[in-house]
Amino acid sequence: MKKTTNERVNICIIGAGYVGLVSGACLAEIGHRVVCVDSDPKKIALLEKGVMPIYEENLETVVKRNVKAGRLFFTRSIKDGMHHGGQRAEAIFIAVGTPPREDGSADLSAVENVAEEIALNMSDYTVIVEKSTVPVETCEWINKTVVRHNKKHIPFDVASNPEFLREGTAVGDFLKPDRVVLGCPTRQCEAVMRKIYKRIKGAPLLVTDVKSAELIKHASNSFLSTKISFINAVAQVCEKTGADVEMVARGMGMDKRIGMSFLKAGIGFGGFCFPKDLEAFYWLSHRKGYDFELLKSVKDINEAAKMWLVKKVQDELWNLEGKTVALLGLAFKPETDDMRFAPSLDIIAEFKKLGAKVRGYDPVSQENAKGLAKGVYFAKDAYDCVAGADCVCLITEWAEFARLDMKKVITLLKHPIMIDGRNLYNPAKMRELGFIYKSVGRQ
Ligand SMILES: NC(=O)c1ccc[n+]([C@@H]2O[C@H](COP(=O)([O-])OP(=O)(O)OC[C@H]3O[C@@H](n4cnc5c(N)ncnc54)[C@H](O)[C@@H]3O)[C@@H](O)[C@H]2O)c1
Repeated sequence: MKKTTNERVNICIIGAGYVGLVSGACLAEIGHRVVCVDSDPKKIALLEKGVMPIYEENLETVVKRNVKAGRLFFTRSIKDGMHHGGQRAEAIFIAVGTPPREDGSADLSAVENVAEEIALNMSDYTVIVEKSTVPVETCEWINKTVVRHNKKHIPFDVASNPEFLREGTAVGDFLKPDRVVLGCPTRQCEAVMRKIYKRIKGAPLLVTDVKSAELIKHASNSFLSTKISFINAVAQVCEKTGADVEMVARGMGMDKRIGMSFLKAGIGFGGFCFPKDLEAFYWLSHRKGYDFELLKSVKDINEAAKMWLVKKVQDELWNLEGKTVALLGLAFKPETDDMRFAPSLDIIAEFKKLGAKVRGYDPVSQENAKGLAKGVYFAKDAYDCVAGADCVCLITEWAEFARLDMKKVITLLKHPIMIDGRNLYNPAKMRELGFIYKSVGRQ
């Protein structure tokens, strides 16, 4: 008999977004046979033509290589994905979106719909893997849903396998993870999950119960958000006392117990994960009878951080009615085209409310931004963006903005005012060049 560790697993991934597509491509890259399913016909049509529906470094290469090798397929139908080419999927990953509802709780209707359809199409023992970020007890709900529609009583398990990849470095993160968390209810399920991940050499596996696995994801994202809000609050104290937050963060981070990461002061976090996961964790704790006040403060500090930038612009330009503000960067972080919950959207809305005209430029997320931010002039490059503006704000620290010809920028601006929301530039150099330069938590 072949050794289990070398066996290839037939996998179906439902939801081919940032998580599903990257996971699918990477699982194919390590040798499994993967079918990615998405209900969005445009997404599947693009993928079938070899065009990536999202921007993610190295993704296109990995997708194309595995399609060519006959390990990666795309379809719109869950039924087809589960039995593609006559091969039954042993593991089915759910990677659909779990967006926030008005009250902050996660909308799990897509997860429920998918669970129902999986139940109707199972033909033998199947491991259903919850990969989307979901509140604790969601696997229990998936289990109940599948039991209800599983009329032929096909055996199955529901595992939790939260995803920790970061947009911008998603392929690398998936293939070289800090840890892989597997919440498995049975030995049989654990064996399948181990077989899948064994092929990622050196990946530290944490095998645990389902509820703990589910909670690890929310707790991790909430902790990282807390670190960011903590340093942003420290930045405020720095501004009021004359200290330099970059130095404070470095001094703190040199302590191994604290670490350097996520101590970068700025105008707050955004994206599809941190804001909604924080909200969902707060909401879940509250529903279970624990008032997680700390998370509320983390959110409040983050909301305020975005407005500090607007306030700094007002401190320089006084009334904003009719004045023009240029925004460099729109995505919530560099190396992604994702505009979901980007701080720039709230900042633009506030500038517009105050009567300012907004010019914006982002090297990659511009097309996505156009659908979300109305009444903005989208520039063709950074220089076009700042041309004639009363001031410029750095919103996203893309590498190309670090290399800008600042002498040219200063000549293009109406007034030499730069508000740096990410502490990208050197204050002394900027002032030497003639800028009125303001950043976060630095004098
Ligand atoms: N984006 C990240 O960096 C990241 C990281 C870790 C975890 N997560 C979590 O992973 C989940 C997915 O996030 P994402 O960023 O990939 O979202 P996404 O919106 O990019 O992708 C979700 C995909 O699911 C598809 N879909 C929705 N309903 C479907 C259905 N019934 N059948 C088939 N396809 C369906 C959508 O068309 C979409 O393409 C979320 O829970 C998110 O919190 C995201």
